[in-house]
Amino acid sequence: MAGLHQDKVIIITGSSRGIGYSIAENLSNEGAHIVIIGRNQETADAAAAKLPTKSIAVRCDISSEADAIAMVETVMATFGKIDVLINNAGIFPVKTFSAMTLEDWKAVIDIDLTGTFIATHAVYNVMEKQKKGKIINVASIAGRVGGYGFTHYSAAKGGVIAFTKALAREAARLNIQVNAIAPGVIETDMAKSNFPKYALTEHTKNTPAGRLGTEEDLFGVISFLCSAGSDYIIGQTIAVDGGYTMI
Ligand SMILES: NC(=O)c1ccc[n+]([C@@H]2O[C@H](COP(=O)([O-])OP(=O)(O)OC[C@H]3O[C@@H](n4cnc5c(N)ncnc54)[C@H](OP(=O)(O)O)[C@@H]3O)[C@@H](O)[C@H]2O)c1
Repeated sequence: MAGLHQDKVIIITGSSRGIGYSIAENLSNEGAHIVIIGRNQETADAAAAKLPTKSIAVRCDISSEADAIAMVETVMATFGKIDVLINNAGIFPVKTFSAMTLEDWKAVIDIDLTGTFIATHAVYNVMEKQKKGKIINVASIAGRVGGYGFTHYSAAKGGVIAFTKALAREAARLNIQVNAIAPGVIETDMAKSNFPKYALTEHTKNTPAGRLGTEEDLFGVISFLCSAGSDYIIGQTIAVDGGYTMI
């Protein structure tokens, strides 16, 4: 039986582990061909090999325009089309503002914000020619309400949300839908090692759903944004945060 995303080609940046990999597995189970992306070829290869559909792994540092352009060339040579780009690659090192250096700031902006520009720019002319495409940006609640120790990250993710709206206005008439999701704290290995335990307890207390998010909590909205059912949804940022923000 054909899956919900049968034979779609979906690029997911930062998909060698964590949220990106879980989404890759879910969409692949629904028939999509996945382009796994990370900075380490071996880890990316291992992730792609576990997927049930024909999928490829491309080493690509998303903060490098040359890497992103080469990645898109590889995807087009392999599959000949790109249906969806999911801009998920991101880093989120906690650092209070007084301790933050310009290098700390730039490291996060370069990957989380500029990386989103670079990957989108690399696929955009392909989608323009196809007259069809979907771009889904993984932002964060930090981009809406700010996060303690997260001035750089909040600025980057707030930028991703604004970028989503502005690009969506240009892209909609080309039949390219651009949207974002804003997850709350999702229990990935990175989140568990990154955030102090008391911060996770406090966050849970302030979340109406009474728990942290899981990778599975993101599957429904991502699958929907990959599907034709979301064609008239343009420039939105959908929170998946157990009610932590209600904006
Ligand atoms: N976990 C949460 O609580 C949470 C909440 C809200 C939003 N988010 C967002 O969700 C996304 C994924 O988070 P996660 O928790 O799954 O993180 P993660 O477990 O650390 O995974 C990050 C992925 O991105 C890749 N990556 C990092 N820098 C990259 C770069 N420059 N170029 C290409 N790939 C890169 C990593 O592989 P390599 O290291 O091998 O490159 C890895 O595959 C991020 O954008 C994050 O901001 C997470």
